[in-house]
Amino acid sequence: MKLATKRRLLRPVCMADLPHYFELDADPEVAAPIGLSGPASLVGVRKSIRQAMRDWKKPGINKMAFTIMSRSGREWLGGINLRWPHGGVGELGYAIAPRHQGNGYAAEAVKKVIDVAFQSFGAHRVQATCWVRNRPSARVLRKAGLRKEGTLRGYLRQGRKVRDEFIFGITRADWKKSRLNSKKG
Ligand SMILES: CC(C)(COP(=O)(O)OP(=O)(O)OC[C@H]1O[C@@H](n2cnc3c(N)ncnc32)[C@H](O)[C@@H]1OP(=O)(O)O)[C@@H](O)C(=O)NCCC(=O)NCCS
Repeated sequence: MKLATKRRLLRPVCMADLPHYFELDADPEVAAPIGLSGPASLVGVRKSIRQAMRDWKKPGINKMAFTIMSRSGREWLGGINLRWPHGGVGELGYAIAPRHQGNGYAAEAVKKVIDVAFQSFGAHRVQATCWVRNRPSARVLRKAGLRKEGTLRGYLRQGRKVRDEFIFGITRADWKKSRLNSKKG
C-alpha cells in the first residue's frame, strides 16, 4: 500500500531503510521522546524492520509501518506507523529525521494515515500517546485534529524510570465533522 499526499509519499517499510532507521534510533533527540532505552543496535533495528515487513503480509494487518519520502523518492524523511491494539482502534507512532523537522511533514503524514484508518479500515477511533515533555509531538497531534484527553500516569518504562504520557484521540464523529468543516471552509 502506498499513500500520497501533495508533496510526500508513504510506502511500506523495507530493508533498504535500515541505515536511516538506525540513524534515527541512534539519535538521542529521537530515541528519548519515543521511549527507547539503551543504545540503538543494527541487529535490533533490522529485527524491527523484518517484523514490520511480516506484519504487512499478515491477513487482517495488525500494524502498518510506512516510510515517509519526498514525492521524488530522493529524500528519506522519517517513519509513521499505525497499529491496532484492539478492534477498530488505531494507534499512531512517528518520527521525522532531525534535519527535516519543522517542515510540517509529521502533521501531513499523521493526517493522511488518520484518513486511511477511518476511510479504508473502518476505525472508530485513532489515538496516540505522547511524552508530557514532547511539545512538538503534542502540537503535531493537535494540528492533525486529535484532542488531548488526559494523562496516563506512570505509563511508559524507560530504563529505570517510568514516565507520564498524554493520551490524544480522535473519534470517527470528530473526523467526519472536521472534514465537513474543511469542505465548507
Ligand atoms: C515530533 C516530530 C515527529 C515532529 O515532526 P515535524 O515534521 O517537525 O512536525 P511538524 O513540522 O508537522 O510540526 C511541529 C510543530 O511543533 C512545533 N514545535 C516545535 N518545537 C516546539 C516546542 N519546543 N514547543 C512547542 N511547539 C514546538 C512547531 O512549531 C510545529 O508547529 P507549527 O506548525 O504550529 O509551527 C519530530 O520532532 C520528531 O521526530 N521527534 C522525535 C520523535 C517523536 O517525538 N515522535 C513522536 C512520539 S509521540
